[in-house]
Amino acid sequence: MCGIIGYIGGGNAAENVLEGLRRLEYRGYDSAGLAVIGGNGKISVVKRQGRVEKLAPLITEMRGCVGIGHTRWATHGRPCDANAHPHSAGAVTVVHNGIIENYAELKAAFIEKGETFFSETDSEVLAKLVNKNFSGDILTALAAAVKVVKGSYALMAICENTQAIAVAKSKSSVILGFGDGENFCASDEPALAGKCKNICSLEDGDIALITRDKIEIFDSKLKPVKRKLRPNVAVSASLDLCGCPHYMLKELKEVPASVKNTISAFYDVEGELKKALDGVNRIIIVGCGTAYHAGLLGKRYFESFARVPVEVETAGEFRYKDPVMTEKTAVFAISQSGETADTVEAARLALSMGAKVVAVTNAPYSQLTRLASVVVPVAAGPEICVAATKSYTGQITALYLAALAFAGKKTAELEKMPGLCQKVIEDIDINTLAQMCARSNGVYFLGKDLDYAVALEGSLKLKEVSYIPSEGYPAGELKHGTLALIDGNTVSVALMFDKALAGKCENAVEQVLSRGGRAAVITNDTEVYNNFSKRCEVLLLPECDKYLSPLISAVVVQAIAYETAVILGRDPDKPRNLAKSVTVE
Ligand code: G6P
Repeated sequence: MCGIIGYIGGGNAAENVLEGLRRLEYRGYDSAGLAVIGGNGKISVVKRQGRVEKLAPLITEMRGCVGIGHTRWATHGRPCDANAHPHSAGAVTVVHNGIIENYAELKAAFIEKGETFFSETDSEVLAKLVNKNFSGDILTALAAAVKVVKGSYALMAICENTQAIAVAKSKSSVILGFGDGENFCASDEPALAGKCKNICSLEDGDIALITRDKIEIFDSKLKPVKRKLRPNVAVSASLDLCGCPHYMLKELKEVPASVKNTISAFYDVEGELKKALDGVNRIIIVGCGTAYHAGLLGKRYFESFARVPVEVETAGEFRYKDPVMTEKTAVFAISQSGETADTVEAARLALSMGAKVVAVTNAPYSQLTRLASVVVPVAAGPEICVAATKSYTGQITALYLAALAFAGKKTAELEKMPGLCQKVIEDIDINTLAQMCARSNGVYFLGKDLDYAVALEGSLKLKEVSYIPSEGYPAGELKHGTLALIDGNTVSVALMFDKALAGKCENAVEQVLSRGGRAAVITNDTEVYNNFSKRCEVLLLPECDKYLSPLISAVVVQAIAYETAVILGRDPDKPRNLAKSVTVE
């Protein structure tokens, strides 16, 4: 799972490709590489384990007008120089995003014929296949190669002495950029922001040949096809840290703006959403990671406000559960990036079964946006830190508004939330709690109902950026097993934002304290505060509507994760082994 980019034109290909890779790094940063066809027609390749920036000193002497590049999130084969893309075979060099599911049998067949492999990747078989089919024409070689491949691919191939890039697509997305005397191809639109006037998306099975002056698109049988051009309106994320040491902190501080802008953006789509949901009698919410956690809150909103039954599933599970859907089902697909493979495929499945698909996304130019029946925008603005912060609170806001609209209800409570989030960010001192977490062997986030959903997110965030083992638990379940793990080296953090349920959750904290565990309470209930303030760490937040309390409690659990990571010297913006957008299964 990776980001790929190709450039052909009058400029320096290596520099153009490197710039594209910097913009694509959110898709993976285990290793990076690029290949350029030099003036002598030969291909030079540079690749390194580690971040994209490691390539900068290696390309200063590279000259050439055709280049392809890759930033990797390892699926097959550990991150190392040899497994980094590009991969070459004979005169051919390729970069690939996706997974080749039948690579093992293809590889075995090549090995039997005496071929040597230099990497452990599934992608290297693609280089071998294109080379095997190559007899002077890169386009036909690529078309023949992908015929025997099973799986997903966005594939770019170049070959020696040929001023062209051949591209193939199946499942993983490919965008082509039409410039003036130069052309581009990339795995997504932001990589091409400001680079060219028009763009188009390839469809599954398409093959394209890109030269400096023209882009030709064909179907899998190499019959010419037309794909709709659209203006390139993508904007790339601002890399300005605005005085913060990390993007995670900068983006946490942008939570109030995310909530506020998502409210404003919603009113433009409210009518269209209501129309699309007319007659809907069942809702399914899908997403991955943080987006799934937002979905858990969405379920409560739709069920409480509209009394419509809602199921929430992680997108990767939903796809394979033979789900039941009718034209009266609406599937809400939540994704910050709009590119997460499991979520996009779940949405595609829902459409194919006649359900309506509502995309809740921060990415207006993504695959998910293009296929959805309606888009409810999350106006968080570009999020750079791998761990989601402001996009989560934006998603909660969007789902709250969508549920109210579906129920035909209105409330002014949400208008107060940007101000309350701002107050929490400015006033709350989480350092003591973060120190407790940093020194612990494990952290348990506890809550009931809505607080439990936020507990799951708090736990995920802490794991992602601090690497401390953590679990989110329904407070009442603690005594049914997890209590066995509680000792003086663990921290249990209880969230209590629902007065009616606080007493039940207080019991869980008592059970932890009476067994020598360390505990902390995050609440906006002064009675709860008074009960625990002398016995454990307690953070008191402002009062607000219980359904909207996740907006402020989320900020606090995210801030705890950030602070803990910083105390432990981790890089919260690029945690080990992760990528912001996972475009493979
Ligand atoms: C990855 C990220 C998570 C994110 C999830 C869903 O796993 O590391 O932080 O929540 O993908 O991403 P999406 O873009 O679909 O919201």
